[in-house]
Amino acid sequence: MNEKSLQRLNNMKSELHQRGFLSVRKLLQEAGYNDYDLHYDESGKPHLKDDKFISITHSFHFSAIIISDQKAGIDIEMQREKIIRIADKFVDYEFHFLKPEKIQEYIRKLTVIWGVKESIFKICNEKGISFKDHIQVNPFEIDKKTTTAILEMENIKQQFSTYFEEIENFTLVYAFEN
Ligand SMILES: CC(C)(COP(=O)(O)OP(=O)(O)OC[C@H]1O[C@@H](n2cnc3c(N)ncnc32)[C@H](O)[C@@H]1OP(=O)(O)O)[C@@H](O)C(=O)NCCC(=O)NCCS
Repeated sequence: MNEKSLQRLNNMKSELHQRGFLSVRKLLQEAGYNDYDLHYDESGKPHLKDDKFISITHSFHFSAIIISDQKAGIDIEMQREKIIRIADKFVDYEFHFLKPEKIQEYIRKLTVIWGVKESIFKICNEKGISFKDHIQVNPFEIDKKTTTAILEMENIKQQFSTYFEEIENFTLVYAFEN
């Protein structure tokens, strides 16, 4: 493991965080890379030494990476009821198709929307991006496991294809720039 990574690992306060960090290195190995192939830019965004794109996520006992020829972002989130309380911080357009009265489905869909927006953020890494105002997730059904989204801000307009999986009570989302 490289010096910077060792330093990060030793400075982590929680064992869960350390495990997440180490499991990502294990996943890298599975994909034929090692810690020396990975570096971070000043924003904390990870990059590989070759011309592939990488994105990383970890949450509790889950970690996931995506390595692609296209720009890609990945996010894993636990499905939690408390997402309802913060929905108006990251949802606007999507309220047109969400149905808050179906509470379980509402939580699952909000978690997908959050994951889509985090994944797109990880691809674009734009300063000043607002999940609520700049990213629009198009209507979807949970069992279709896919939707599309648009990022629109200043002079940027980009479309994304996004995919999701529910695993235990977690939602894994990944996105590709079209
Ligand atoms: C940085 C951020 C994307 C991390 O997401 P998270 O859900 O907290 O954590 P995750 O486990 O999913 O992702 C962490 C990984 O993201 C990657 N990452 C960190 N900063 C990144 C960036 N600027 N761009 C892309 N990827 C980044 C790293 O690989 C990191 O893991 P590692 O350091 O162990 O390698 C997130 O905290 C963030 O800043 N999001 C945008 C916030 C925002 O605009 N919110 C608006 C709410 S209305």
